[in-house]
Amino acid sequence: MAVNGVLVSEMGMRVDPRTAVIHVDGARINVRDDLVYLALNKPRGVLSAMSDDRGRPTVGDLVADRSERLFHVGRLDGDTEGLLLLTNDGELAHRLMHPSFGIAKTYLATVPAPVHKEVARRLLAGVELEDGPVQVDAFRIVQTHGERAIVEVVLHEGRNHIVRRLLAEVGHPVQRLVRTAVGPVRLGGQRVGTLRELSREELSELHRLVDKPL
Ligand code: URA
Repeated sequence: MAVNGVLVSEMGMRVDPRTAVIHVDGARINVRDDLVYLALNKPRGVLSAMSDDRGRPTVGDLVADRSERLFHVGRLDGDTEGLLLLTNDGELAHRLMHPSFGIAKTYLATVPAPVHKEVARRLLAGVELEDGPVQVDAFRIVQTHGERAIVEVVLHEGRNHIVRRLLAEVGHPVQRLVRTAVGPVRLGGQRVGTLRELSREELSELHRLVDKPL
């Protein structure tokens, strides 16, 4: 075990849980019981905001019964469904959103079929949008069914409407968009509108990804 970067072997050492950074077998563990880390499967039609002065539904409504002051880690469009992380750990939220860490985000998009191989080649070569190039980390066609295809796109950036703009640029305007993973955290079979706590493994993996000076 390491406390604040110093290896510790004695038993019963006292630490301040509000400030101590503790690693066990190299993985950071959460010793603050006031910090919460949640995965939400955001429904379509719900804003990535904690409140809305025009009274539209927000993720704040979905966590209204929780006492912590939660932040959403980044945003999904109102029309986009899927994984949104929520936490009251402002430092981790800030790091996860910071472009220098380039956390990978995975999306499933429903688009008009057929999607030709050329599209994958163009995407992986990098597409120029009006506000600069987008680098696509991975792309695959998951399935084609009649006039629609489902494609998976992995990106490590978070400009506004980036997946919709990217796929429209290569001729495949998005009909439905779901975020299925943020770094090591996967949506899996989590039901729409529900919350779950991140596992210890997910949390230490997230910490590991952003464990460098900013
Ligand atoms: N890209 C989009 O176009 N929309 C989202 O909500 C997230 C990424």
